[in-house]
Amino acid sequence: MSSILFALPENQLFAKSLVDQLKIPLGDVIFRHFPDGDSYVRIKSEIKDKEVFLLASLNQPDPKVIPLLFFSKTAKTLGAKKIHLIAPYLAYMRQDKAFNPGEAINSRIFATLLSQYFDTLITIDPHLHRYKTLDEIYTIPTYVLHADILIAEWIQQNIKKPVLIGPDVESKQWVLRAANHIKAPYLIFKKTRIGDRDVQISVPHIEDYQHNTAVLIDDIISSAATMIEAVKHLKQLGVRKIVCIGIHAIFAGNAYQELKATGVERIITCNTILHESSTIDVSGMVADAIRADMLL
Ligand code: R5P
Repeated sequence: MSSILFALPENQLFAKSLVDQLKIPLGDVIFRHFPDGDSYVRIKSEIKDKEVFLLASLNQPDPKVIPLLFFSKTAKTLGAKKIHLIAPYLAYMRQDKAFNPGEAINSRIFATLLSQYFDTLITIDPHLHRYKTLDEIYTIPTYVLHADILIAEWIQQNIKKPVLIGPDVESKQWVLRAANHIKAPYLIFKKTRIGDRDVQISVPHIEDYQHNTAVLIDDIISSAATMIEAVKHLKQLGVRKIVCIGIHAIFAGNAYQELKATGVERIITCNTILHESSTIDVSGMVADAIRADMLL
């Protein structure tokens, strides 16, 4: 089966790694903007009857969405057999209900839109909270991969005596699987969100782990308010060695600097979003999934 992979400009490194592993060509495409800000897309490679993969990590999604839709429609017009979206980070998953009257349920609207333009979606640890699976909102086949085992292996190789900590109840899914994999102890904190950048965290008993390295694990680090609050509490309780691990390095505004300023030993993320903290490479997992479950 003939396949080709295209990527948004900022995902070129990940794309290179994928095409090397999958032994498929990297497609030639131009994504740019006209002086007035309108998007321009030109697919230069031959794609007729091919399985077309588009790699686009959807952090800061709004400027990327129009080019994505233009790409998909153009690829169909040029005779692509199917168009598969690989979005290592999937945006708009956190607003999964109307918390106040009149609020848009972003996750559902975004899912409906992408489902109209792509034949399948491959993603890594989407923020599933009130939805159990993406099938509740996406009408196309979705392939969800998990970074927890790679995270667990990184911890095992790099941290002596870790205690894994979830800063909120949603993070339990990753923390539990990672802890089980390396047989490490774990704790889950309780978080109350007061605003976009304001959270309160209550900490269970940590006395037994004063001599361990506390490894905070969360799916997304955005404003970093969750991590910063958790770090503050741990420090107040006398924990000295703290490492923060996030799957998706959003780091809005100065979030990364603010988290660093707390004095944590290390901040580690996966390369679903390219960032200086990206240490854990998840491209192999994506390549394996494409090879095993999909169309090569
Ligand atoms: C929310 O429930 C997620 O699991 C993360 O805890 C959250 O997205 C982190 O956001 P922030 O860095 O803005 O606190």
